[in-house]
Order: sequence, then C-alpha cells, then structure tokens
Amino acid sequence: MSLKIRKGVPLIDQHDKNFMYGGKFGGNFIPETLKKPIDDLTQLFSKLRKNKSFIKERDYYFRTYIGTPTPFIKLENLTDQLGGAQIYAKVVSEANGGAHKIYNATVHCLIAKKAGKKYIVGDTGAGYAGKMLSMAAKKFGLKCKIFMGAKDIKRQRPNVEAIKKNGAQIVPVTTGSQTLVDAVSECMRYWVSNCDRVHNCIGSTVGPNIFVKICAWSTAQISRELVNQVILEFGKIPKKLKLINCVGGGSSAAGFWNEFMETDAEFIGVEAGGPKNSKLHAAPLTNGSKIGILHGAAQYVIQDKEGQIGSTESISAGLDYPGISPLHCFLKDSKRAKYTSVSDEDALKAYKLVSKLENISPSLEPSHAFAEAIRLAPKLKSSEVIIVNSCGDSLKDKDIIKQRLGYYIR
Ligand SMILES: Cc1ncc(COP(=O)(O)O)c(C=O)c1O
Repeated sequence: MSLKIRKGVPLIDQHDKNFMYGGKFGGNFIPETLKKPIDDLTQLFSKLRKNKSFIKERDYYFRTYIGTPTPFIKLENLTDQLGGAQIYAKVVSEANGGAHKIYNATVHCLIAKKAGKKYIVGDTGAGYAGKMLSMAAKKFGLKCKIFMGAKDIKRQRPNVEAIKKNGAQIVPVTTGSQTLVDAVSECMRYWVSNCDRVHNCIGSTVGPNIFVKICAWSTAQISRELVNQVILEFGKIPKKLKLINCVGGGSSAAGFWNEFMETDAEFIGVEAGGPKNSKLHAAPLTNGSKIGILHGAAQYVIQDKEGQIGSTESISAGLDYPGISPLHCFLKDSKRAKYTSVSDEDALKAYKLVSKLENISPSLEPSHAFAEAIRLAPKLKSSEVIIVNSCGDSLKDKDIIKQRLGYYIR
C-alpha cells in the first residue's frame, strides 16, 4: 500500500509519534547514552523553529553571511543545443563556500551556541559539509573537528585544504570503505562519548530524526527563494515543471523541493549509478534496496544477503553513500518524487557539456542531475520547464576531472 502525504503539514513533520515517516522510515535507533542529548536537541529545536527572533537571526546570517538569494538563471545555450524543454539552473554553488551545505552548517552553529556548546563536530564526504562547518565554526567562534574518510581525503583535496585553513582538525577515517558512511559512523561514535560538551552536525538529511529535521529545515531556504524567482520569471508556477536534483543523503533535494510540495511540479531525484562497467553503485532507491537501519534511522539501504551494509562506488564522493534520507524514502513510496540514476561516465559528459556551453561549472554531484536534464529535455515541448539544482562548484573535483577528461575548466 502506498503512503500518503498529509496536505498542509511540512515535510519534516510528516512523521508519526515514533518519528517514523509514513510509519516506515526514520526514527531514533540510538544507544541509550544518546537519548538525553537527542531529546534535549529535539526540544531546543522545536522551540527555536517557532521563535521569531531566532528566525530573524537565521535569515540575517543567510543574507549577510551565506549571500542569499543565490542566482536563478536560464541556460539558453544548453536549451538551444538540446531543443525541447527550457532549462534553468538554481545556482546554489554561488552560496558562500560553494555549495548548499553552508545552510545546515550555519543553522547547527547557531543552535550549538544557544545550547551553550563550544565544540562542534561533523562528518563529510565530498568535503563540502566539512568545509562549511569549519567556516561557520570559525565565524561563530566554535572549535571544530571534521571526520572524513581516507579515500575522500585523497580525492577531494581542495576542500581538505579549506578545512585546515579554517582551523578545524581533520580526523581521517580508515575503517570500512573509508568514505562518507564510515565518516558519519566515526563522528557519531565520537559524539556518544562527548555529547555533554560537544554538538554534532550531521551533514545531510540522515541520522536520528532531529538531524533529518534540522538539515531539511535549513536547506528549505533554496526553494523559499526559488518559488519567488520562478514566479518573477513566469508570472506563476509553470504547469509542466520538472525540478531535478542529485541525491546522496538527500539534503539539497529536500531543500530544493520543500516549498513546491503542494504544487504540480514534478520532483526527479538522481542517484549515483557508479561506473558503467561495474555492479557497484550508490543508488538504493533506483536499485530496489531493502529497508534497513543505518546511522540511527530506518531507510532503504544497500545491503548484502546477511543485512550488512553493502559496498558502494561512485565518482562523486558526495553521492557515495549506501543509505538515503528517510524523507526521500517517504517521497518515493508516496509517489510524490521519482528517482533514477546516472553513471559516472554520463555525469562527466554532462559536466563537459554544461561547463562548455554555460558560465557555470557544476561539481560531479549536480552533474548527475544535469545528465538527467540533458536526457529528458529533447523529449519535451518548449513550453515545458526544467530546473536543475546546481548545488556545488566543481573546484573540489578538479583532479578527478583532469584525470578523466584530460582538462579542467571552470
Ligand atoms: C555539492 C554536493 N551536492 C550534493 C551532495 C549530496 O548530498 P545531499 O544529497 O545531502 O545534498 C553533496 C554531498 O557532499 C555535495 O557536496
């Protein structure tokens, strides 16, 4: 039986009394020692999100620190080249630091300060969540530690350098696949033993329920701006509108879609299909993965026959994660959003075409979303509109792109 979205209820409040979205996804599968810190954070956030002066403070920093609103531009050359639908981009990579991860990081630092914490820790894959947390921690005077997989430290060098420059300590994670999944686990382990003095910022809409909520509440800024920008451009929300976003943990997509929940806009989430010649991928929703528990929440998760977390592979460190936000599991099962996947090779091709024709240079994560837009646009009418969330800048991927394409342009 498919799940139903309750009208008039914000996406982050669609859960039941056990914090399970649609009664199936999310929740708080946590060790006893985390119960109190998670209850405290839940109570604090439920007060803050209703507090007018906190909202004013958030909006002030979004405007004067992050630099919102980010641009909404028409990709005329790409549209002309492909024929078919008009293609636009919400250029979230123009936010301070170069990606959407700055919204969650800023809000977590503001909350940590309200909670009287002086230390903040976080996980990172592509390095953007870590870079942004280190930036925001510096801005708000917090000490910061970032957990990052050793494989990702090697492949996302520019962001690693930025984290160090911001004065944060990087903890290389050498367990498991040495990618995001292990960084989140290691960071949570650290938090379990230090939760009385340390605030934890999970870098996506994953983890125990409160982290899913805070993150999606923060990234919702993207669609709050976009609704106004779309109405300014078209006079209304176009009847045939597709909003295409890559999904790793799912924070940029949740924020990109949030304000369009009750419109006719079609939501398309793009997972990492991995290399074309490999069975490995990071696409649990597209490949029929079963429900399991990962990082304290029930979700579709790539797993082996024994239910152990399975291996993943993607050219894109930010999408290279075996699980997916409970919010997206809910959006999939309720049929509000559709999910597909794009291979490493097609993401690279999309990066090449977009950066050649337009003055934006998407990182490998949003290049997955552009690949889907490029596939769909020629099949659609010119009255139809596609908007892609260009949620990250390619600079962090310059080594990989140079190695794969022989050049790097930005
Ligand atoms: C630029 C960029 N886009 C997308 C993602 C995927 O994460 P999420 O699905 O939470 O937006 C990441 C993760 O690091 C990222 O850095």
